[in-house]
Amino acid sequence: VFRNKLEFFAAAKISSSFPPPTIPEIAFAGRSNVGKSSLLNALTRQWGVVRTSDKPGLTQTINFFKLASKLCLVDLPGYGFAYAKEEVKDAWEELVKEYVSTRVGLQRVCLLVDTQWGMKQRDYELVELMERSKTSYQIVLTKTDIVFPIDVARRAMQIQENLKKNKSIVNPLVMVSSKSGAGIRNLRTVLAKLARF
Ligand code: GTP
Ligand code: MG
Repeated sequence: VFRNKLEFFAAAKISSSFPPPTIPEIAFAGRSNVGKSSLLNALTRQWGVVRTSDKPGLTQTINFFKLASKLCLVDLPGYGFAYAKEEVKDAWEELVKEYVSTRVGLQRVCLLVDTQWGMKQRDYELVELMERSKTSYQIVLTKTDIVFPIDVARRAMQIQENLKKNKSIVNPLVMVSSKSGAGIRNLRTVLAKLARF
């Protein structure tokens, strides 16, 4: 499914402008700058369709992309971006929360966590929300190329330990680097199972 041409088809700042949910959807959530947009590029090998940036807070709308009519990939705006104005920040966060807890056709949320920094309060809040709303999610550790393998393993163990009490964390944690390509094929295989054939 990831071989299909990636096409941008909608951007939303408010929930009333979400496109109708007609195909299975996978969303990418996480703090600003964790590498959500880069991961979308790496998964599809289509660089440039999704914009990435060194500056946190680039993605400010919920962006919908599709792979033919088989799978919709959703790039969520990052949270915890310190430089945004307080009210703008809250609006993004509300939008993400609403999307994650109510979206019809949402098959999985990939919660991206920077391997260097680990999970923060906002990440745990999102996990709690997804537990409550029975949203299927999985943790994706990103940027593994800049951390020693032993520290990647440690981080993975730490997160699994902290999330043990969450019953619905049945989906495996995956570790990726959009830069080196490590783990990308594995994640593609996991996510392709959620697509329409
Ligand atoms: P927002 O849109 O601000 O929420 O950020 P984002 O999560 O979409 O992050 P984005 O993909 O724009 O990447 C942020 C920065 O991290 C960019 O400078 C990327 O080049 C870098 N980056 C992303 N993935 C990796 C990775 O696997 N390894 C390394 N070393 N850098 C990465
Ligand atoms: Mg982005």
